[in-house]
Amino acid sequence: MLTTTIPYAASSRTPAMSPEFADSARSPVPPFDLVLFGATGDLAARKLFPALLQRQIEGVLPDGSTIVGVGRSEMDDDAFRAQLAERIGDGRDRAALDAFLRMVRYVALDVERPETFAALVPHLTDTARVRAFYLSVAPAHYAATCGALATHGLVTPAARIVVEKPIGHDLASAVSIMDAVGRVFTEAQTYRIDHYLGKETVQNLLVLRFANTIFERLWSNADVDHVQITVAEEVGLEARAGYYEKAGALRDMVQNHLLQLLCLFAMEPPNTLDADAVRDEKVRILKALRPIPEGEVLQRTVRGQYRPGVVGGRAVKGYAEELGRESAIETFAALRVEIDTWRWAGVPIFLRTGKRMSGRFSEIVVTFRPVPHSIFAGLGADGALAPNRLVIRLQPDDGVQLVTMAKIPGSGRLRLRETGLDLRFGEAFENRSPDAYERLLTDVLRGQQTLFMRRDEVEAAWRFIDPIARGWADRYPVPHRYTAGTNGPAQAVGLIEREGRSWLEQPGG
Ligand code: BG6
Repeated sequence: MLTTTIPYAASSRTPAMSPEFADSARSPVPPFDLVLFGATGDLAARKLFPALLQRQIEGVLPDGSTIVGVGRSEMDDDAFRAQLAERIGDGRDRAALDAFLRMVRYVALDVERPETFAALVPHLTDTARVRAFYLSVAPAHYAATCGALATHGLVTPAARIVVEKPIGHDLASAVSIMDAVGRVFTEAQTYRIDHYLGKETVQNLLVLRFANTIFERLWSNADVDHVQITVAEEVGLEARAGYYEKAGALRDMVQNHLLQLLCLFAMEPPNTLDADAVRDEKVRILKALRPIPEGEVLQRTVRGQYRPGVVGGRAVKGYAEELGRESAIETFAALRVEIDTWRWAGVPIFLRTGKRMSGRFSEIVVTFRPVPHSIFAGLGADGALAPNRLVIRLQPDDGVQLVTMAKIPGSGRLRLRETGLDLRFGEAFENRSPDAYERLLTDVLRGQQTLFMRRDEVEAAWRFIDPIARGWADRYPVPHRYTAGTNGPAQAVGLIEREGRSWLEQPGG
């Protein structure tokens, strides 16, 4: 197989990048106080504290900054530090960990009891410095938390708030949550996280499209036949029943991660990388998504739920068995969408995501139109020429693969086969690929909003999702079953194959 790894060469021209975004990775993080609500929770232990520790080891976090963990359980700073060391310290250099823990304090309070916020006040005395409140708690607590912060005079001009997706469970609830936050923090102070935007390869999508000339010229209905976006996971319910039973794959993944990927893939080139320039273009795509009315959900969408199977060589339970009861929530969703713009009209875009699929892989596959007239009739593998495909692999093994036709070497009869130009970022660059939260947390501290969702994006995404959710409730209440370790129910194959296309599966998928 003709496989070439091409490292990135330095450009001879200085790209016209927005200084705000491009320099943000180089501009120093100012001294800060970061208050982390939900500090004893899962996200904090798995992602937030490890990301902060990593940034501290890299020397990015200035001396004198503090991280105040907030939780409900009563404990003192030392007890919290000891708990944290146990949860995140594995394999870390002890001196580095200790230096990090010295930045950390702990405050016990109840976000639903405003008077308990008094305990936070002595930790936030420098009103001039950057102050970030990270709400790693259920959205139902956002209003009370913001209200209490305001009541205690903690919301300074340099304060900012960070909230996680999904915001609400439909447009109305999202609006009410965002209104409550908006009464205390301005839009410029609000950072809505979709951690997919912090992933290296997702940012690389912008670079691939807008730092190269060759792709953008092919990036439209003139040359693209169809697009597939897959986010497949191996994990199952993971002790998140309380949350997942209300969300399901549509609200947990499609409303945010998949639609964000679609926006970055499809948006028009922004004039700069400034937050609003990029977000203006993304929101245009969300608004141009052709609605899927309730009456069309059976033709244009598929819901699935995994039953027992084998994933990664290991027997796993079905969703209902993990949950301990029957459930009608979907762990898999596939959608056929269209973007009603001049550029994309007529190009079907297939989105799918699921838990307990054949592997963990996320990718965007762009299939180009076939050659208009083939002079190689009958010489391809099954007689036909395979269309060119660009595979943008987001994880794991991130990279870009361009599938092309080539001649099989030999002096006999001319024969053709698909081969690939294969760029693997892990091989092309020695740099460690950082976790999404490492970038996002320091962007918050630097005041850089490009990789965060603006309010109108969240609303537009819900406007698209709501009719699907209603259609599912009315007409598609029971998801189709799929065996864990496969790539969703057969109906998802039907969704794409009835249009003469098929999912590009990972090897072994
Ligand atoms: C989260 C979802 O936002 O993303 C999870 O709530 C999902 O259900 C996770 O597992 C996937 O993220 P990643 O970074 O592992 O692809």
